[in-house]
Amino acid sequence: VLILILCAVIAYLLGSISFSYIFTKKIRHEDIRKKGSGNAGTTNVLRSYGWGMGLLVFAGDVLKGLLAALIGLHFGGTIGLCVAGVFAIVGHNYSCFLNFKGGKGIAATIGVLLIIQTIPTLIIFTVAIIIVISTKIMSIGSIIGLILSAVAAIIVAPGDPYHYIAVIVIAILGIWSHRENIERLMHGNERKLSLSKK
Ligand code: G3P
Repeated sequence: VLILILCAVIAYLLGSISFSYIFTKKIRHEDIRKKGSGNAGTTNVLRSYGWGMGLLVFAGDVLKGLLAALIGLHFGGTIGLCVAGVFAIVGHNYSCFLNFKGGKGIAATIGVLLIIQTIPTLIIFTVAIIIVISTKIMSIGSIIGLILSAVAAIIVAPGDPYHYIAVIVIAILGIWSHRENIERLMHGNERKLSLSKK
């Protein structure tokens, strides 16, 4: 149990490192939380600063999710992986370095899910990209990706409750963080992503 608590704490702290905040602060001397949607995440960096910064933040947030999951797997096996995965995303969304606020956790989720269920995640990521390119709305891709990930977990690991419960919790965390996006989508005023280079 002690090992699992340690995995959770390390994963939470890793997840709390907000690359969108750090990179935009260091490179542009601005606070990402005061730009665009106000969200401290890849999409808003992409929206506000263009592809270069967006991909940098995406890579950082994916890698921290990946690293947290691998640390969990190494020290706590499957249960450690699942606990660390969930806590890395909690850290991203409720960062102790950003007054317990944060981003919406999609990049970190991708990093974590690449370890928990690699092939389904690669397929779902591709599907989500196609959805985003055709709708120009990132949150639709994110939300559908989260739902598909939970469904995939039940299909690929029906005998492994830690696996599918963790992915369902991750999907719920992600959908909850998108509650304002869902409201905007229902009212037809969700922000579109300008895919042009800024
Ligand atoms: O990954 C977050 C994305 O789905 C929505 O971000 O900035 O449009 O609220 P944003």
